[in-house]
Amino acid sequence: MPVTTQQLIQWKQQKRSIVALTAWDYAIAQILDAAGVDLILVGDSMAVVLGYETTLPITLDEMLYHAKAVRRGVKRALMVVDLPFLTYQESIQQAMHSAGRVLKETGAQAVKLEGGYPAMIETIARLVQAGIPVMGHVGLTPQSIHQIGLRQQGKTQEDSERILSEAIALEQAGVFAIVLEHISADLAMQITQKLNIPTIGIGAGVHCDGQVLVTSDVLGLSEKQPPFAKVYTNLRETINKAVQEYSVEVREKKFP
Ligand code: KIV
Ligand code: NA
Repeated sequence: MPVTTQQLIQWKQQKRSIVALTAWDYAIAQILDAAGVDLILVGDSMAVVLGYETTLPITLDEMLYHAKAVRRGVKRALMVVDLPFLTYQESIQQAMHSAGRVLKETGAQAVKLEGGYPAMIETIARLVQAGIPVMGHVGLTPQSIHQIGLRQQGKTQEDSERILSEAIALEQAGVFAIVLEHISADLAMQITQKLNIPTIGIGAGVHCDGQVLVTSDVLGLSEKQPPFAKVYTNLRETINKAVQEYSVEVREKKFP
């Protein structure tokens, strides 16, 4: 049975942890989906596998191109696509247009937008009213890297209260889940207890309703990982070994 947004909320109630990862093409998406990942995110973090330094340069057309490939590989997981920087912040109309393109052109079930400040709450409420499922994202929001860097957020009392109230406002605006990125486990626990919708943590401790990581970090494909990532296998090394072996065999006429 394909995973739905309602299913995620049920899993929170049942205390069944939600497993989420990112994907950027058909092959990766198919492997993750077949492995039973619950939520597959076409994150704008795929900027790293495209060779960008930050998530800022990626365009909506690039996201759509990759999301279509991911869609062809996803059978069961709920598929969510990030709206990239400045394709939704300008106005409600711009957000509606971008989110509409994602749903209509890729077949994804939902979009994710960063931020919980008042104007973004208004935008998200309008998308939800129009029938577009939205995932929220607060704490470290990498599209704001030039303002806040990549450090942990919510370090002061004031800041952690702001993040908690943003999460509450997002739930009221109608998001079906919220990514909590790089905040303390304690703050993430408070938010998780306060909300009826699931929290999906990344660098936000063990008390979230689910966890997400960037797949290129998990697989050891990224050149560097954030401090909260766990590298489960080193594909850079594996690929290099295979290529070395192939090169030797070609040069020594052992292959074919
Ligand atoms: O782009 C991304 O991969 C994300 C996750 C880290 C949540 O937004
Ligand atoms: Na993202």
